[in-house]
Amino acid sequence: MSIAVYPGSFDPVTLGHFDIIKRAAQIFDHLVIGVLNNSDKKTPLFSLDERVIMLKEAVKDIPNVSVESFDGLLVDFVKSRHSNVIIRGLRALADFDIELQMAQSNRMVAPDVDTLFLSTSLDYAFLSSSIVKEYAKYGVDVKDFVPGNVLPRLKEKLSKMSITTGGN
Ligand code: PNS
Repeated sequence: MSIAVYPGSFDPVTLGHFDIIKRAAQIFDHLVIGVLNNSDKKTPLFSLDERVIMLKEAVKDIPNVSVESFDGLLVDFVKSRHSNVIIRGLRALADFDIELQMAQSNRMVAPDVDTLFLSTSLDYAFLSSSIVKEYAKYGVDVKDFVPGNVLPRLKEKLSKMSITTGGN
């Protein structure tokens, strides 16, 4: 059985991520989405549990996809799931440097784990979780950017933080 791991912060999951998930799930028998817990990045908007729940809701109709969180090194998580393939989406040249560096360093520490890049669909080439949060914060309706289940959670989160989300 071929198993791949699609890791990320998913804060929150976007339609760009979802597009990669659907396509990777067609290539592999099983796709494990790994949601990063230990982030060096700034504090995420959504808690780990919220990010996992939003992903589970979004992929509920894709039978060969599961969602888990992980701590520590990605390659260790990949091996623990009996996989040797990491899936990453490439949007544009701007992604390339960092993605190549990650893929190469992961191979240095785990030579049997490879990274497979899927090119993001043009419709989502501009999209990132940061852009979604930025627009939502300023009241732009982000329904074309995130899976439907994420919208109310985004609105609720931002309104709790007393930030207007606009839209309806
Ligand atoms: O969606 P993101 O935030 O770009 O995903 C980054 C991620 C989760 C793939 C990366 O930060 C990661 O693999 N973190 C786990 C720690 C690790 O293995 N680091 C070494 C590779 S840089």
